[in-house]
Amino acid sequence: MSPAKLIDGTEISRQMRSELAPAIAALKAKGVNPGLAVVLVGENPASQVYVRMKGKACEEAGIYSETVLLPDDTPEARLLAEIDRLNADPRIHGILVQLPLPKQIEEHRVLLRVAPAKDVDGFHPENVGKVVLGDPTGFRPATPFGVQQLLIRSGVETKGAHVVIVGRSNLVGRPMAALLLQDGPGGNATVTTCHSRTRDIGSVTRQADILIVAMGKPRFITADMIRPGAVVIDVGTTRVDDPKSEKGFRLSGDVDFDGAKGVASAITPVPGGVGPMTITMLLYNTVQAAKQWTA
Ligand code: GUN
Repeated sequence: MSPAKLIDGTEISRQMRSELAPAIAALKAKGVNPGLAVVLVGENPASQVYVRMKGKACEEAGIYSETVLLPDDTPEARLLAEIDRLNADPRIHGILVQLPLPKQIEEHRVLLRVAPAKDVDGFHPENVGKVVLGDPTGFRPATPFGVQQLLIRSGVETKGAHVVIVGRSNLVGRPMAALLLQDGPGGNATVTTCHSRTRDIGSVTRQADILIVAMGKPRFITADMIRPGAVVIDVGTTRVDDPKSEKGFRLSGDVDFDGAKGVASAITPVPGGVGPMTITMLLYNTVQAAKQWTA
């Protein structure tokens, strides 16, 4: 079999960001400058990188952005007060509180506090409900939304396909299943979700036409767990030590890429697959929020 085609998230992101430019220009012509606030509590190094990248992406897209940095020992009440301020700020259409949060803060209470109309992460129960119900005014969480766009724009047909998702997180696995079940482009799939209690996971993943892996376990999915010709989407990005790398680490996906590329028909690399899409979809959600604000 010829090696798998690479699904290039960097290139698809570039295309999508250029497609977003006219929508941003149209909003600005109406006097609306889309604005995103990103809140980071603490000094998780991976989160610091993501938050910087989000700010830079906004700047490049012409979206107003505000980054709020709070110390690691921030009390929950202080963070909630900051969210209240952003909820009331007319320059801000989207609010994202970077996860994970330090242990003194209850994630659930924070996600509930973000005004649903500004919840561009799609983590508030109101948006979770809308996404499950297929209401287009709901915000789709950036990572599964990005995966769906990768499939659509790579010409991978989901209609009638058996999609197996590995991982049931609120960030990726669960909303991914909801998006794939919807009636429309990038939907109409038959969806199976596997997780840590699934028996004989390989026997399930081998049934997938499209395999989406979001479990956070480097190289867990090996070639023998993939049906020949399947499309493989690797959402994993775990930092693993690498003394040969300048930074001392590299990003590892959940799929053993070298093995998988000999079996799959198409596959996303890590980095350069799903990662770049997540920030692009956040920009889309911010523009959606600004449009809905003015509607
Ligand atoms: N941490 C890892 N992924 C995400 C995400 O999509 N949104 C937020 N807020 N935090 C994250």
